[in-house]
Amino acid sequence: MADVQLIREKLGVHPDFPKKGIVFLDLFPILRDPVAFETLITHLVHHLTSYTIPNAAVKKIDVVVGLDARGFLLGPIIALRLGAAFVPVRKRGKLPGQCDTVVYEKEYGADAFEMQAGAIPEGSNVVVVDDLIATGGSAKAAGDLIAKQGGKTLEYLFVIGLPFLSGHEKLDAPAYSIVQSD
Ligand code: ADE
Repeated sequence: MADVQLIREKLGVHPDFPKKGIVFLDLFPILRDPVAFETLITHLVHHLTSYTIPNAAVKKIDVVVGLDARGFLLGPIIALRLGAAFVPVRKRGKLPGQCDTVVYEKEYGADAFEMQAGAIPEGSNVVVVDDLIATGGSAKAAGDLIAKQGGKTLEYLFVIGLPFLSGHEKLDAPAYSIVQSD
């Protein structure tokens, strides 16, 4: 598909960043190119409004959850296109007011994610958006926060998937990525 090809071509590739052995895949060249950025957003919105989510045709998406930090660049645009709410999940201590908190394992030690209490109305249909799924720890933490507030996660959406890390296996709903990298 031409749109997938364009997105793949525009991703930045940075070997040994932020440390030796990691090939960092960079979303920002796509955001610098309005045609590529539009193509990316339209691809994800079309995915969400097409047949690819089981029963999507009969399920309105109520909330788009974006993950700190690059999920914040994609999620609000997708939410506006869908007529849905946008809700951020942030690292601990960044959100004001009462928050729900979930601790999750990262490569080195634990971290915590938060969502403002009451952000997800009970019974909402939710999708989670981030730029990349690696081990899936942060996406799982977001899913746990959504479940805690009574939402139902329909799908996890990413620009880039790293299937060899099996992150999708941690999740309680299907994971979709536009480009897969090894
Ligand atoms: N986060 C974890 N692994 C990554 C990678 N390879 N590229 C960009 N972000 C990442």
